Amino acid sequence: MNDNTIFISVATLAPLIDAHDATGSLSRLAGAYDGLITFSTSFGIEDQVITHMIGGNALPVAVFTLDTGRLFAETYSTWSATVAKYGIPIAAYYPNAEPLQDFVAKNGPNSFYESVALRLQCCHLRKVEPLQRALAGKKIWVTGIRAGQSPNRQNMPILEYDATHDLIKYHPLLHWTQQEVEAYAAQHGVPVNPLHGRGFVSIGCAPCTRALKPGEDFRAGRWWWEDANSKECGLHAKP
Ligand code: ADX
Ligand code: SF4
Repeated sequence: MNDNTIFISVATLAPLIDAHDATGSLSRLAGAYDGLITFSTSFGIEDQVITHMIGGNALPVAVFTLDTGRLFAETYSTWSATVAKYGIPIAAYYPNAEPLQDFVAKNGPNSFYESVALRLQCCHLRKVEPLQRALAGKKIWVTGIRAGQSPNRQNMPILEYDATHDLIKYHPLLHWTQQEVEAYAAQHGVPVNPLHGRGFVSIGCAPCTRALKPGEDFRAGRWWWEDANSKECGLHAKP
């Protein structure tokens, strides 16, 4: 199916979703909207669990990653292990070379530490613009977002309309706890990014992500030099 005139809304997808059965929900969505559904992975543990559900059940969901060029070496090894285990294609989207070359020539390779504006420009070039290409023609975007990851994810609905990309986002693990995610990964032999064993809870770019210290909240390891309120890269921003 690749019909751009097809209309999908939260209401049309809701009957296919069971908040207690992520695999079943993914399977029903993929069956009904083959070719129109895609999943974004950062190779963090939540995304690895979803990849297992897709790869382990041969669900027709296109999987992609945004390779910013600044990922951790451990993320590339997790990526390789995932392809080896599940044998599914994982499409990589890259920043457009010329605007990135110009940006780095003008501001240097690590200008994200200098101001929020430069950091957001880097995120735009390396993640947000490639994401637009990855989502083109799709109607359903699956993510690994969990409510427990940050205060502004706490009240997210499991299905939501994304006006920026004009599609419906589905967060199959929204109500899972971190312990449930870890237990699922261990039980099913899911390849896990070794960074998680070293205190990293979410997996972003290497210069912008650090391990948590005891007692810190989930988002503290991302863009830690910035004010807590500005800490989004724009992937999940609302207009
Ligand atoms: S971010 O907005 O802070 O960067 P976060 O790391 O919490 O996002 O991840 C939330 C979801 O966004 C992931 O489960 C995944 O679906 C998507 N995502 C984040 N980073 C990437 C990436 N580099 N490539 C593809 N998807 C990503
Ligand atoms: Fe650039 Fe850091 Fe954003 Fe990655 S997270 S795109 S390195 S600013």
